[in-house]
Amino acid sequence: MKKINIVLAIMATVIIAGCKQQASEPSALDVIMTRTSIRSFTGDPVSRENLETILKAGMAAPTAMNNQPWRFVVVTDKEKISSTFGSGPRSGAFTTAGAVIVVCGQTDQRNMFWYEDCSAAAENILLATHALGLGAVWTAGYPAMERIEPIQTALNIPENVTPLCIIPIGVPAENPEPKDKWKPENIHWEKW
Ligand SMILES: Cc1cc2nc3c(=O)[nH]c(=O)nc-3n(C[C@H](O)[C@H](O)[C@H](O)COP(=O)(O)O)c2cc1C
Repeated sequence: MKKINIVLAIMATVIIAGCKQQASEPSALDVIMTRTSIRSFTGDPVSRENLETILKAGMAAPTAMNNQPWRFVVVTDKEKISSTFGSGPRSGAFTTAGAVIVVCGQTDQRNMFWYEDCSAAAENILLATHALGLGAVWTAGYPAMERIEPIQTALNIPENVTPLCIIPIGVPAENPEPKDKWKPENIHWEKW
């Protein structure tokens, strides 16, 4: 009788643990459908472990001919974030971010697809950030040269490497509803 009770207790523990894991880990589709741009953060730092997970997700993206032309500059120093990104009309999200990832592309490899490759990495970065319970927003870099030139200089980014986008990351201080972008009229089945 005792043995049966022990076996039942173990089975119950395994089932409860399984349910808990399912409850705490949203599916890939949930992550995609609930991500939304976050532009206000608590100011808390983002751990190195989380940043590495996010960067790993970025580097898991597909690239043309598996070229992987992406390069990343990660800034976590508050003063550097503020002095590099904290001015101008779109600086709001940067004043409270815990970290900033500048997604760059190596542009001297005769790879005309660097822009697409790095965009795929940037989207993976946004999704991984959201999956970890953090927030982020894609802010534009290339081809707006007036935006990227000061960043290029401040972060010592070489000429053959171009910042595509600048992503502030942090603990969300806002909780906006994901936008409903489902528009069947944008789809043309079989033929336009
Ligand atoms: C190429 C690109 C450039 C963007 N640039 C900016 C930007 O400079 N500043 C900003 O606040 N958001 C920027 N965004 C975020 C968009 O405004 C946002 O994704 C869009 O409004 C849809 O909202 P959602 O991300 O919450 O779904 C950019 C997004 C993309 C893809």
